[in-house]
Amino acid sequence: MTRNAYYVTTAIAYPNGEPHIGHAYEMVATDAIARWRRLEGREVFFLTGTDEHGLKMVQTAQREGLSTRELADRNSQRFRDLAAALDISNDDFIRTTEERHFRSSQEIWNRMAAANNGDIYQSTYKGWYSVRDEAYFDADELTDGEGGKKLAPSGAEVKWVEEDSYFFRLSAYQDRLLKLYEEQPDFIAPAERRNEIISFVKRGLQDVSISRTTFDWGIPVPNAPGHVMYVWVDALTNYITGVGFPDDKSEQFKTFWPADLHVIGKDIIRFHTVYWPAFLMSAGLPVQKRVFAHGFLTSEGKKMSKSLGNVVDPFAVVDEFGADPVRYYFLREISWGQDGDWGREKFVNRSNADLANNFGNLAQRSLSMIAKNFGGQMPPRQLGSGEDNKVIAETILAIERMTVAMATEQLHEAAAELVAALSAANLYFAEQAPWGKKDDMARMGAILATTADIVRRAAIAAQPFVPTAADKMLDLLAVPADQRQLEHALDPDLFIAPQTQLPPPEPVFRKFEQAKAG
Ligand code: MSP
Repeated sequence: MTRNAYYVTTAIAYPNGEPHIGHAYEMVATDAIARWRRLEGREVFFLTGTDEHGLKMVQTAQREGLSTRELADRNSQRFRDLAAALDISNDDFIRTTEERHFRSSQEIWNRMAAANNGDIYQSTYKGWYSVRDEAYFDADELTDGEGGKKLAPSGAEVKWVEEDSYFFRLSAYQDRLLKLYEEQPDFIAPAERRNEIISFVKRGLQDVSISRTTFDWGIPVPNAPGHVMYVWVDALTNYITGVGFPDDKSEQFKTFWPADLHVIGKDIIRFHTVYWPAFLMSAGLPVQKRVFAHGFLTSEGKKMSKSLGNVVDPFAVVDEFGADPVRYYFLREISWGQDGDWGREKFVNRSNADLANNFGNLAQRSLSMIAKNFGGQMPPRQLGSGEDNKVIAETILAIERMTVAMATEQLHEAAAELVAALSAANLYFAEQAPWGKKDDMARMGAILATTADIVRRAAIAAQPFVPTAADKMLDLLAVPADQRQLEHALDPDLFIAPQTQLPPPEPVFRKFEQAKAG
């Protein structure tokens, strides 16, 4: 039996600056997955938060003339605000500076230190470190930059570091990791990423430096004065803190750990599919089930950067267009797992075509005809009417295909199925032309009831994508709150009861103008 609980997380972002559109994308995609699982009737726990330790936070705060804590407090709140603005349904928001997380990180550390006669040992670290990536690099991974600078693959400058440090015996985990990837073929998605990681691990793993002594903004290493944990050790641990660790006997931990899915960007896949499972194995904890690495977003075709001035402010976009259309664009326009782009013109086209013209019009036209011709009371369907039954059956099939796509989180395919079903329903509506059936009101009513039912089914399935608009549509169709689960969209025998009084119809989606040139 598959368990009913489902635990999904985003990466936790560094609050060293304002959230950007890439952060918004990750939140929205993960939220749509969480909402879909709830729609399926699963008990979901969805965690997001901020990753507040590390040298990057310290240095940014110094530049801004703030204490590190002030910087963390200010910007962590901005990530919380972003989640609210985007209608993200997270069950908790973790900050790695919280007391619960200190206890959790120190406990996992102690367990790793105690494992296998000690997976943690003391030595000296000598090597390259990139503060922007908060990562160590081998010399052969670096390239030469201007002025004799050495650059990490991300383009960030690396600095030579030599310090006393604790190490984690990652080298001992090569075989166990390879076995994990083999036994759990869906551990890493998409598949290209899995192959990359397998060949990386096959090349051999080096032990990792997991403590720092040159600054103190971090979680103290137990019984090791002067050492704070390397930020990634505590960052990854957030996923278990969020469900109650170190209390691993708690109901919450037993219910939700191991996590079903960590959603992350492709730049941090090694941390999640090599380090994190090795830490967990070392600590004697079950390993998460799956990691999905999404692509990177550019802005109007270019990499976002402060110097290009093309960093898109997600708050401004949501203010202008509302959360639902922005969410929909991310989920439909960007192929899940691939890189994508935020472009205003593409956004306006996509939102107008799929939401306003396709979905919105179908709802508005059918509901306003029910209001006008039937006093807002749902007319009866005509049993045995071939065209009507066919279009309903097609809608159900499309929603079934959405569930198949969502089983492997193929968000853009699921969204495409939904829109295809709505296009088919629009075609049905145009062909049946209910406005020309004034002399056969029973037929007119049946067409409208059939169309309204498709809108109902589609709106149920659309909730994870455009939650506010979908809810509003379901309200306009007088669908009770307890009949908005996936099973109600898929049930061939469930319809809105004839005579149900509907509220006055209102448009649900706006149409947007392209910005005027010049
Ligand atoms: N703090 C680490 C993650 C720790 S998880 C235990 C981190 N933070 S981050 O703020 O740099 O990135 C947070 C998430 O946003 C990551 O999954 C990252 O891949 C993602 N993105 C950052 N820039 C992005 C884009 N331009 N586009 C899409 N996602 C991007 O890494």
